[in-house]
Amino acid sequence: MNSQIQNTVNFVKEKLEGAEAGHDWFHIERVWKLSKKIAATETCNLEVVELSALLHDIADPKFHDGDETLALKISQDFLESENVSKEIIEQVLFIIKNISFKNRDEVPAVLPIELQIVQDADRLDAIGAIGIARTFNFGGFKNNLMFHPDIQPQLNMTKKEYKKSNGTTINHFYEKLLLLKDLMNTKTGKELAKKRHDYMLKFLDQFYREWNVE
Ligand code: ADP
Ligand code: NI
Repeated sequence: MNSQIQNTVNFVKEKLEGAEAGHDWFHIERVWKLSKKIAATETCNLEVVELSALLHDIADPKFHDGDETLALKISQDFLESENVSKEIIEQVLFIIKNISFKNRDEVPAVLPIELQIVQDADRLDAIGAIGIARTFNFGGFKNNLMFHPDIQPQLNMTKKEYKKSNGTTINHFYEKLLLLKDLMNTKTGKELAKKRHDYMLKFLDQFYREWNVE
């Protein structure tokens, strides 16, 4: 591993000390590994991919009073201190700014391949068994209900509504997780998403059976 990546790993690990378990260093490590796996099947700048994967959740607005500029500021300061070139910094900041699911209506229609890769990796970690575990962990962290038979999923929420939603954790599957399969950018991302998607459908099916004591 080159020293720039190693320094970034150390920086991110330290910054995310004590983070909520779904957005901690291990989430970053999985997204980094998935990004490299997808990158191996695309023509792209691997340095941009790796740096963006490592820094993408350095200051998630969810945990910083909705501040959407903090992650950019921290990343820029760090990358400058590492003497990363201006062009690379610009590309990494663009990815961090535009990767998020909740911003998907605001981003340009054509995305750089490096953003497509890291976004797919981040989305893959939001689905499947890990996605289920992260979602229940986050719901618990927020003290949300797991499920309520009378509370329906809210499709078409605005970004503001989505951010302050404290609906049930099961509803989050319909509001986000089950939509991700069709939003994947890369061929490899799409293939990996399919298995994880099917696993969530099985989980939901079993969840309702047990809930209803069938
Ligand atoms: P992004 O960081 O891509 O904008 P989100 O903020 O929607 O994505 O969420 C990242 C992860 O945090 C989700 O995949 C999910 O696991 C968890 N999460 C976010 N919002 C909720 C919620 N309302 N209920 C349960 N889990 C959530
Ligand atoms: Ni993430």
